[in-house]
Amino acid sequence: MTEPLLVARDLRRGFASGGRRVAALDGVSLAIAPGETLGLVGGSGCGKSTLARVLTRLVAPEGGSIAFMGDDWLALGGGRLRAARRHMQMVFQDPLAAFNPRATVGGVIADALRIHAMVPKAGRAAEAARLIDRVGLPSGLTGRSIRDISGGQRQRVAIARAIAVRPRLVILDEAVSALDVSVRGRILELLVGLQRETGVGYLFISHDLAVVRAVSHRIAVMAAGRIVEEGPAAGVIAAPSSDVLIDLIGAVPRLTGIIRPERSEDRQDDAY
Ligand SMILES: Nc1ncnc2c1ncn2[C@@H]1O[C@H](COP(=O)(O)OP(=O)(O)OP(=O)(O)O)[C@@H](O)[C@H]1O
Ligand SMILES: [Mg+2]
Repeated sequence: MTEPLLVARDLRRGFASGGRRVAALDGVSLAIAPGETLGLVGGSGCGKSTLARVLTRLVAPEGGSIAFMGDDWLALGGGRLRAARRHMQMVFQDPLAAFNPRATVGGVIADALRIHAMVPKAGRAAEAARLIDRVGLPSGLTGRSIRDISGGQRQRVAIARAIAVRPRLVILDEAVSALDVSVRGRILELLVGLQRETGVGYLFISHDLAVVRAVSHRIAVMAAGRIVEEGPAAGVIAAPSSDVLIDLIGAVPRLTGIIRPERSEDRQDDAY
């Protein structure tokens, strides 16, 4: 079996809220293999974003351990941390908040290449152009400010920036949730295509089960700070055991592949 890329064990993190303590992470364990997509679903407030922030070290856990690429991730510091950080990238729901709004599309990507010394200075513009093309953006957007492009375009820039540094793992927290259905479908296709090319692993977080189902090899279901169910995507959805997942399945009218939606003329009447 391949070495797991990421192994988290018994992660704990609470927050004080209105005089009481909320256990946002109440003993969460998970593993992601290279080239694998682990989908993470669960209702609002169950701890998904806290888990993303703890894994990326934006928030410190109060307990538990994380091994990333074989290192004790929580113990890494200095240059080794900087080098390893390159390999764990994150894409948020609202990329505007994650960018300097005055930066240009090309500038954002060139900056990522510079910070992680990916290509020599002379090659940066060409590599940025290649990435802009790879995520399906027109080259004419290169000089445009991040503020002046659409949400779907901005999400593609966020993905281009994340993959620019050739990470091993990308954590996507509601990364396509704000996008309309057709843009979302194209971005999911892009993510799957990039995974096939590069073997990147994804932690794909969403409250939308249909979207998670379309891209995930395995699915973990979270409720109240714990993973309550986990397994191969098709199996988990075919035989849900937790109330949360049963509710999430009930909320999706028809669970079909979003990556390759069937053409309307192929559809059987009884599919509805
Ligand atoms: N910085 C914080 N300070 C106080 N409480 C917090 C903080 N971050 C998260 N929480 C609380 O921790 C719990 C989990 O929040 P989290 O944002 O991880 O949930 P989520 O699953 O991402 O929800 P959503 O689907 O709405 O994004 C919630 O009760 C939330 O209010
Ligand atoms: Mg969240």
